Amino acid sequence: MKRKKRVLSGMQPSGKLHLGNFVGALSNWKELQETYDAYFFIADWHAVSTNYKETGQIRELSKQMLIDWLSVGLDPEKSTIFLQSKVPDHAVLHLLLSMIVPLPWLERNPTYKEQQQQLVHRDLSTYGFLGYPVLQASDILIYRADYVPVGIDQLPHLELTREIARRFNDIYKPVFLEPEALLTKTPKMLGTDGRKMSKSYNNAIYLSDSEKVLREKLKTMVTDPQRVRRTDPGNPEVCPVFSFHQTYSTLEEIKEVDQGCRTAGIGCIDCKKIVADHLAEELAPVWESRKKWEKDDKQLKEILNEGSLFASQKASETMKEVKGAMEL
Ligand code: TRP
Ligand code: SF4
Repeated sequence: MKRKKRVLSGMQPSGKLHLGNFVGALSNWKELQETYDAYFFIADWHAVSTNYKETGQIRELSKQMLIDWLSVGLDPEKSTIFLQSKVPDHAVLHLLLSMIVPLPWLERNPTYKEQQQQLVHRDLSTYGFLGYPVLQASDILIYRADYVPVGIDQLPHLELTREIARRFNDIYKPVFLEPEALLTKTPKMLGTDGRKMSKSYNNAIYLSDSEKVLREKLKTMVTDPQRVRRTDPGNPEVCPVFSFHQTYSTLEEIKEVDQGCRTAGIGCIDCKKIVADHLAEELAPVWESRKKWEKDDKQLKEILNEGSLFASQKASETMKEVKGAMEL
């Protein structure tokens, strides 16, 4: 029998996840775990690279993210769920790879420059931050993943991973597989202010928001700015609420809202209520599940321990070959 193809992906622990994270990466991971040999991990060491002055929050953020993963249906029976720092071989491979990665490869990495410009209040002129993609390459190569589901922003890191694999295989022996990106389609999820949904914009709806908070957030969500009075016709194309309809409402509702908005036949309050009802229905099982996981620290720890142990075994098989190839 042919072995199942392996997918692997990681996320930095940013705490509680929002609808954008769900509609993007997470729902995709959930599907992948059904047919692939899937590995999903919390990249807590990566979080240190940009947050080395406030490492104290990483543990709690990791836990909250794990709770979200489990609540939406990532299943430790189906996929290997683990914590990066519980598999120290990632660091060993990172060290060995760092010996062969030419500096210019890292210096020309577009995310490196972008992030440095964006996070101006942090000093990111560190060795570790420059080496971020080498750690990411280690995460991927150590499991010989066939595919890596990522968003478009991560493509440069994946290309670097392939280049590093090739360089290692050329210098020593062919140990690594060149992984391919599985580009995650990200339907644009807008935030309550009409910009892209993002934790840093303070416009996000979280998976963990209560029903009350969810409904409040929708009530204050911006609509077509031209539609000032109830009697003004609106334009759904410029309304962020409508973008929610497109993800969560039935085709019939979408048609009705589109028509109703353009003719002032429906008011924004009613229009938003349809979205809120759909979201509440969609999130109810997630809320239920979350309540259960929040109370079960022991089980959370066990899941990470077990997943990380399993991952460690796989990682150490590759490390044996790496050391063999390097004659160490
Ligand atoms: N850099 C990724 C991000 O910020 C997280 C990450 C770390 C990752 N290691 C990985 C993603 C390995 C895929 C595979 O989103
Ligand atoms: Fe937006 Fe709906 Fe109001 Fe139209 S009716 S402006 S789509 S909230």
